[in-house]
Amino acid sequence: MPCSVPVASRLRSLLDSRAMARNPIDVLSKYTALYGDTFRFYLGGMKEALVTRDPAVIQHVLKTNAENYQKSHIQVRRMGHFLGKGLLTTHGEAWRTQRRLIQKGFDRKQLEALGSIMQDSLRDSLPEFDRQVRLGPVDIHPHLMKMTFAMVARSLFGARLKSEDIHLVSHSISTIQEFIVRQTIEPYLNPWFAVSGQLRKHERMRARADGVLLEYIRRRRGGPPGHDLLQTLMDARYSDGQGMSDQMLLSESMQLLVAGHETSSNSLSWLLYLLSMNPDCLRRVRRELDSVLGTAPLGYAEVAGLEYTIQVIQEGLRLYPPFWMIDRMAMADDRVGDIVIPRGSMVIVYVYGAHRAERYWPSPERFDPERFAREKIKQQTPFTHLPFGGGPRSCIGANYAIFQMLMILSVLLRRYDLHLEPGQSVAARAMVILRPRQAIHMSFTSQQQPELEAAPRAIGYGGGSPVEHER
Ligand code: HEM
Repeated sequence: MPCSVPVASRLRSLLDSRAMARNPIDVLSKYTALYGDTFRFYLGGMKEALVTRDPAVIQHVLKTNAENYQKSHIQVRRMGHFLGKGLLTTHGEAWRTQRRLIQKGFDRKQLEALGSIMQDSLRDSLPEFDRQVRLGPVDIHPHLMKMTFAMVARSLFGARLKSEDIHLVSHSISTIQEFIVRQTIEPYLNPWFAVSGQLRKHERMRARADGVLLEYIRRRRGGPPGHDLLQTLMDARYSDGQGMSDQMLLSESMQLLVAGHETSSNSLSWLLYLLSMNPDCLRRVRRELDSVLGTAPLGYAEVAGLEYTIQVIQEGLRLYPPFWMIDRMAMADDRVGDIVIPRGSMVIVYVYGAHRAERYWPSPERFDPERFAREKIKQQTPFTHLPFGGGPRSCIGANYAIFQMLMILSVLLRRYDLHLEPGQSVAARAMVILRPRQAIHMSFTSQQQPELEAAPRAIGYGGGSPVEHER
């Protein structure tokens, strides 16, 4: 190749391809140690990809020349087949217009308004969680997944979204996502998926979930307005004064549900694990929750006061970023410093690697929320902490996600003492999302605390965004 980037040969890449399928971060971290911050390798021994954890290259790809780096064709085409057109699956002007409209759904005023729907949803999820943890230690992830998905779904479709509909949509999304992953990593099976009826089966599943959500959209058209994201999407207007069609509302809502499906729940699983391993930090979080909230639930107004708890979340996201990598495709020949990136190249922003680069994060394996203390954040090199991506396509739901994680932590940590069950080995496995490799079992015992209040406090948020990400 016409540049100085080291290359893991086709043969080496091929020999490592099984290990890569098992857990790509093992292989990519080995290559990073061997070749440095930016290198090339061959996916499955075939498709060439440039991998980088160099903040200057990342900034160029995600921000400075973002126009030249679109999401990879495979993902967009496969996801688009099931999810239609929306924020996750479009580019250029169509994406820009939608992004501008949908952004309003995540501004401060809207997050303040969503607080009570989120609280109600959590209150609804708690009795079942309580019942389970009384029976003994639980695998935390499925429980957190139920809590977070119900919350996102109700933030979108309103407090009256029925539990059975939430369950149906959640199950469809999980199953279809797994199918998309199979289609992507085993593309040679696609003809078989078509003739065996598997493709049709998943299409029918998607159609059923669509039908359920479309019914809520239609009822809303003819009924009173809500205080949820669906209403914001319905009220949004294009420059010609038109609003989104029902079909557009459906595919944008579905894409938000997909994007928010597993991300917060995975982060929360890691956070509970990290807190259980760091009792001093857990005590400090509890002290902060007590002093800021007392026994009241969390509204968006109180988020800015939870400075230390946000540091803990940021550090958890550094160690375990759900999006452990971000992939792009170069649309035209490009160059960053002396690195040549030919048209059609796949570029992998190695987020997990960037978050553990010794140069920017001394003792990178150590959990240390002090790294995100206000005065230290100012000294951080841009594009070294990327849990929410960077540039124009960074996560639209970042502030919502932080609010959601704080809300769930604030309830669980004030309500329960938590203990990691002994004898477990906890490690990460990178698929689409970075997940715990095995179940994480924890026990939750009730704290001797006064009952938490039911009604949210008055809202009047005066601070900035709880999270500043690389835009
Ligand atoms: C801890 C939780 C979350 C994390 C770590 C996270 C991370 C990310 C990242 C890294 C991206 C950029 C992907 C890329 O550049 O290819 C992204 C995009 C996105 N996220 Fe999140 N996310 C989280 C939660 C959410 C939630 C709760 C929602 C919605 C309710 C959401 C909606 C989206 C959407 C729609 C996009 C695509 C934005 C666009 O392309 O314009 N995310 N997220």
